[in-house]
Amino acid sequence: MPIEVWGTPIYDDKGKVSYAIAAFADITQRKQAEKLVAEYNRTLEIQVAERTQELKTALDNLQTTQEELIQSEKMAALGQLVAGVAHELNTPLGAIRSSAGNMIKFLGPTITNLPSLLQSLSPAETDTFSQLMYRSLQKDMTLTAREERKLKRALIRQLEGEDIEEADDIADTLVDMGIYEADDFLSLLQKGDRDRILEIAYKLSEIQRGTQIINTAADRASKVVFALKTYARYDSSEKMVQSNITQGIETVLTLYQNNLKHGVEVIRNFAKIPPVPCYVDQLNQVWTNLIHNALQAMENKGTLTLEILEEGKYIKVSVTDSGKGIPTEIMPKIFTPFFTTKPPGEGSGLGLDIVKKILDKHRGKIEAASVPGTTTFTVFLPVNFHETIS
Ligand SMILES: Nc1ncnc2c1ncn2[C@@H]1O[C@H](COP(=O)(O)OP(=O)(O)OP(=O)(O)O)[C@@H](O)[C@H]1O
Ligand SMILES: [Mg+2]
Repeated sequence: MPIEVWGTPIYDDKGKVSYAIAAFADITQRKQAEKLVAEYNRTLEIQVAERTQELKTALDNLQTTQEELIQSEKMAALGQLVAGVAHELNTPLGAIRSSAGNMIKFLGPTITNLPSLLQSLSPAETDTFSQLMYRSLQKDMTLTAREERKLKRALIRQLEGEDIEEADDIADTLVDMGIYEADDFLSLLQKGDRDRILEIAYKLSEIQRGTQIINTAADRASKVVFALKTYARYDSSEKMVQSNITQGIETVLTLYQNNLKHGVEVIRNFAKIPPVPCYVDQLNQVWTNLIHNALQAMENKGTLTLEILEEGKYIKVSVTDSGKGIPTEIMPKIFTPFFTTKPPGEGSGLGLDIVKKILDKHRGKIEAASVPGTTTFTVFLPVNFHETIS
């Protein structure tokens, strides 16, 4: 039987112990109670451990299911994307094939006949011939068939007025070359061998046009491939580096110099900002797509305002154009892959989808606001990438 003992000495007047008192208690019940509590605690610990394990397994299962779901969503979207991509690659490939075919057809006879033609021309006529070629390269590709017919009728009248024979056929060739005004070329058109001159000029201009088409088509094809790469996160080897965003934007502006110089005023409101962690090439693709859209919306005429500033934990970059604006009803769709309001050949509808995906990778975001005459896309990039992990 477990007992508990208490004892205390009793002292006499001189401080000596005269006797002691002791008490004994039976503590069987308390000991049993303590044992019970210890037992309870132990079972409780085991139960908690078991429950924790069960919950962990449940959580793992849930995470696997979620990953599978995301993966299957991604695969479904990829399936759709691939169908679009096949189409988007076929169009430029078709253009490349037919242009290359034309160029091969025209190049042989041109190489053979050009030297003797140039020898037969006086220096003044050679100049006129160069002028004819130059004008043809500036061909306005945006004319409608109706506008072109109208210009052709005027050209026929002009040629007939100058007593040039077969005015119809000549006007046909000139219009194909993008020439709607014959004033500067009458000296050539009045020559005896003008048919030969025109034929060579026409073939040369077709060859030149072919290279332009191939160039544009190759650009389009590589854009589609880039989109696919971004989507599949194929180039995950690329590293994030601290980079100067302002410089990136300036580089893109330089690339667009050609489109800007005839009628676009560029306003730069650039604050001084710190370097930002980013995938440099991809971020440049963001500025490229936004600036490209802005220029297309303004048809290369108007004001392009670029703003860079630091606000809180973000760098804000906005691109504003003075173009026609985005109608409210299409606003919710503009970031959808393959959504475009542009004619085939001009837009594939991937630009903003690419932008969004790239910004997701940067833990950034993009907002759009538009009224006719002012459309702004604002990009937010975290200054400190790692702080944004939630
Ligand atoms: N700055 C803008 N002004 C007016 N509309 C715009 C502007 N930016 C985008 N949009 C609209 O959003 C659509 C989708 O843009 P997105 O860049 O994704 O594709 P796209 O320009 O049509 O083709 P891509 O960029 O692949 O050549 C455009 O077709 C256009 O209707
Ligand atoms: Mg675009």
